[in-house]
Amino acid sequence: MDVTKIKYRLKNARYIVVLTGAGISAESGIPTFRGEDGLWKHYRAEELATPEAFEKNPELVWEWYCWRRAIISKASPNSGHIAIAELENRYNNFLLITQNVDGLHRIAGNKRLVEIHGNIWETRCVKCGAVEQNYELNFKNIGTCNSCGGQKRPNVVWFGESIPHANLEMAYSAAGSCDLMIVAGTSGIVQPAASLPFIAKQSGAFIIDINIEPTPISAIADVFLKGKCGEILPGLL
Ligand code: OAD
Repeated sequence: MDVTKIKYRLKNARYIVVLTGAGISAESGIPTFRGEDGLWKHYRAEELATPEAFEKNPELVWEWYCWRRAIISKASPNSGHIAIAELENRYNNFLLITQNVDGLHRIAGNKRLVEIHGNIWETRCVKCGAVEQNYELNFKNIGTCNSCGGQKRPNVVWFGESIPHANLEMAYSAAGSCDLMIVAGTSGIVQPAASLPFIAKQSGAFIIDINIEPTPISAIADVFLKGKCGEILPGLL
């Protein structure tokens, strides 16, 4: 039953939006945030992922981000990322909204994407706001802003911060206009990303949720596909 419904929706979709979370990169060896071995089980978000934490101890925050960079630098896109890149190729109207900062969707080939929580391979100057690419793995060598010599921070969205307006607008607008939303590997509890499937649903989109366990999003999804992104997403193609 579900297979027929999904096939019909995929075949007839005019505008597909994909929303991803840490679960899509789990099979690439990148730890998720919640769950048994999640980062927030071992680290305190308020000491590492808030503007206050950075103000208090920038070295510690950079050390943690460089540790995460080292893990990500060894990872490659998995079959789930590749399937999403292929989806972009197949549809004229497509947007990928990712909460991940690892950049793997870009490496897989997605171009029409918005990284709503930023990108771990970018720095932003706290003084002048200049954004730079930065692939340093040693926190002691992060350096200072090339434009003004100011302090660099990771160009990611921390707890208590807002998603840059243009990115949020793009995400809300896509959620409200798509007719098919595929949600893959997110716990669906961090706002405002978690509200996007609800907006899509209210606007009449068909929602497919893929996760190894049920979430608040699977509860409102038209179809919940229980399993790993890397196995289920290629199957959708
Ligand atoms: P979470 O760690 O909260 O959730 C990951 C989800 O992926 C869970 O629901 C898992 O069940 C699911 N999952 C794990 N492995 C999977 C697999 N192989 N296939 C399918 N599903 C799998 O990560 P996010 O939802 O992305 O924000 O978290 C949202 C935000 O909270 C992150 O962007 C980060 C975090 O704090 C910031 O740092 C601002």
